[in-house]
Amino acid sequence: MEFLDVLNQRCAVRGFTTQAIEPEKLQRILEAASLAPSAGNLQSYEIYVVSDAKKRDGLSCASLAQDYILQTPVVLVFCTHPARVEKYFSARGTSLYTVQDATIACAFAMLAAVDLGLGTVWVGTFDEKAVRIIIGAPADQTPVALLPLGYPDYQPDERIRRPLDEMVHWVPGKQG
Ligand SMILES: Cc1cc2nc3c(=O)[nH]c(=O)nc-3n(C[C@H](O)[C@H](O)[C@H](O)COP(=O)(O)O)c2cc1C
Repeated sequence: MEFLDVLNQRCAVRGFTTQAIEPEKLQRILEAASLAPSAGNLQSYEIYVVSDAKKRDGLSCASLAQDYILQTPVVLVFCTHPARVEKYFSARGTSLYTVQDATIACAFAMLAAVDLGLGTVWVGTFDEKAVRIIIGAPADQTPVALLPLGYPDYQPDERIRRPLDEMVHWVPGKQG
């Protein structure tokens, strides 16, 4: 798919078929995540691949019972890993860069999933501690996003966006 078509087609999907995800597609999504830029190329994030139904049920409960998490065969959990940047970037690394690293990696995974014909929704509403326990992550890693991956079972509505003129600020003022 053309890159701009991927961006245009990506949208939050909240309903999925029961179709399994091909292992090679999952591999390509994980590889895409690892291609994301990161502070100092330290990749201060970890990705947990959750396919077990009981654990997905747990993730759904930990996310205010968002049930589409249960419908998808796989959920990726992106966590910060601040210890990887601490030595090089101190507080800015551990409070900001590691969150940004995990977030960008998740966005790359999301776009790769769309390119491969899958649907996703970015899930940010969840109990961090509960998610950490479910995936077995150490206490110094913080989950920042859940990414359920599956085949959509409906066509989502068109998205509404703020006008560019409202959100883009030209410095100095726009010429011409
Ligand atoms: C940081 C963040 C947190 C989000 N958390 C949730 C969530 O917990 N549950 C959900 O259904 N969608 C969640 N979303 C998806 C947004 O609702 C969705 O991206 C937004 O409505 C724009 O729609 P679009 O993705 O179709 O462009 C989240 C998105 C982001 C970026």
